[in-house]
Amino acid sequence: MSDRLFIFDTTLRDGEQVPGCQLNTVEKIQVAKALELLGVDVIEAGFPVSSPGDFNSVVEISKAVTWPTICALTRAVEKDIDVAAEALKFAKRGRIHTGIGTSDPHIKYKFNATREEIIERAVAATKYARRYVDDVEFYCEDAGRTENEYLARVVEAVIKAGATVVNIPDTTGYCLPDEYGAKIKYLMEHVDGIHKAVISTHCHNDLGMATANTVQGVLNGARQVEVTINGIGERAGNTSLEEVAMIFKSHKECGIATNIATNKIYSTSRMVSSLMNMPVQPNKAIVGRNAFAHSSGIHQDGVLKNAQTYEIINPKDVGIDDNAIVLTARSGRAALKHRLHVLGVELEQEKLNKVYEEFLKLADRKKDINDDDVLMLVGKDRTAMHRIKLEYLQVTSGVGVQSVASICLNLSGVKRYEAAAGNGPVDAGIKAVKKAICNSDMTIQEFLIQAISKGSDDTGKVHMQVEYKGAVYYGFSANTDIIAASVEAFVDAINKFIVE
Ligand code: KIV
Ligand code: ZN
Repeated sequence: MSDRLFIFDTTLRDGEQVPGCQLNTVEKIQVAKALELLGVDVIEAGFPVSSPGDFNSVVEISKAVTWPTICALTRAVEKDIDVAAEALKFAKRGRIHTGIGTSDPHIKYKFNATREEIIERAVAATKYARRYVDDVEFYCEDAGRTENEYLARVVEAVIKAGATVVNIPDTTGYCLPDEYGAKIKYLMEHVDGIHKAVISTHCHNDLGMATANTVQGVLNGARQVEVTINGIGERAGNTSLEEVAMIFKSHKECGIATNIATNKIYSTSRMVSSLMNMPVQPNKAIVGRNAFAHSSGIHQDGVLKNAQTYEIINPKDVGIDDNAIVLTARSGRAALKHRLHVLGVELEQEKLNKVYEEFLKLADRKKDINDDDVLMLVGKDRTAMHRIKLEYLQVTSGVGVQSVASICLNLSGVKRYEAAAGNGPVDAGIKAVKKAICNSDMTIQEFLIQAISKGSDDTGKVHMQVEYKGAVYYGFSANTDIIAASVEAFVDAINKFIVE
């Protein structure tokens, strides 16, 4: 009999803290429903006291989701806990996740406190949260750099105070796998009452060891893992859900089982990547575009003879179906609807009709429409509310000529035409936009162009970071014309700060 490992998904909290990845409430509900279908045990839905948007998302996700526990994050502060409890009032199963920094740098520099004072605050917060819910998780922030003896005292105190789950975060991603595993082992062996609570891992990927640390945590006694889809999260990200799920599915000798419906991994990964405008690196384990692509002749020959020669996972186990129907200009609404269903997206008829119109336009320009294209089309109405829209763009560029762009911007219903010359077609287009809005105070800090898959007719995705008055804004667009996508991404970013 395998031991059950609980999957705590924090895509919508730690994952969503990534700059430029913020989702609105409707999108968060879409992700939460996909996580429910995927079979996660806990969804961390937000940090309710941090903003009205986060509060509202926890409320709405609590209403929309049935099976997983809904968790809300707090600091060890009564006000935070009051607000989290209020946000969770519609949850069928609600959990408050409270905690405080326990490492010496946190105690000294963040709280200017003593170790004893931190234990008092930890106990008080746990007891206070237990007044609202039976399920209280306590996090010892920066546990990775907290001395084990002291950490054991904190863990013991919060379990006595009523914590049902205790989270041991490697907040800075500093631990080595052996060291993190030994930390969990130490707690399992030295904390009185440890079996009254579930011990949880929460590993960050700053040194590329998040998954290895998580696995070591589990092998040493942790029975909950805190993870995100595609490993997204602050800085280098969190442990990725799909890696942990497939590691324990592949290594049966570990005796660990999860409730993850692994054949939904691929569609959930694509949905999160598309909604958050966060590309998945091609060589990402399990969900990267190349994860199952064998390119060397020797490997291809082996796989054709028998897939077991080089494949440790059947791509179908994670929901990648090579035989999936390819969508083309001749595909009907039903085929599009079916593909969206496979990708976890259900659309009402009216929205489906709109997406289908866009689909036909794209199919005219591109031979085969892939999953990323389809998800990109679904997300396209994001720009419908923009006050500034790019209506027209024409560029001339080439070798031996100066690039010139002519544009028409729709500024809240008023059309403005402009032209500009530049150092390349994108530069010309952006200069023309700046002229049209009579503002050139913004600078591009980062500009990333990514083709979704392959072929010269492919859709390119553009991510752009634009700095304006000391703040950074994120723009995104996807188009088969990468010059248009670049100018659209710039317009997307400026819509976030230009108020006419
Ligand atoms: O990384 C961390 O320590 C966290 C806690 C707030 C749980 O995300
Ligand atoms: Zn974290």
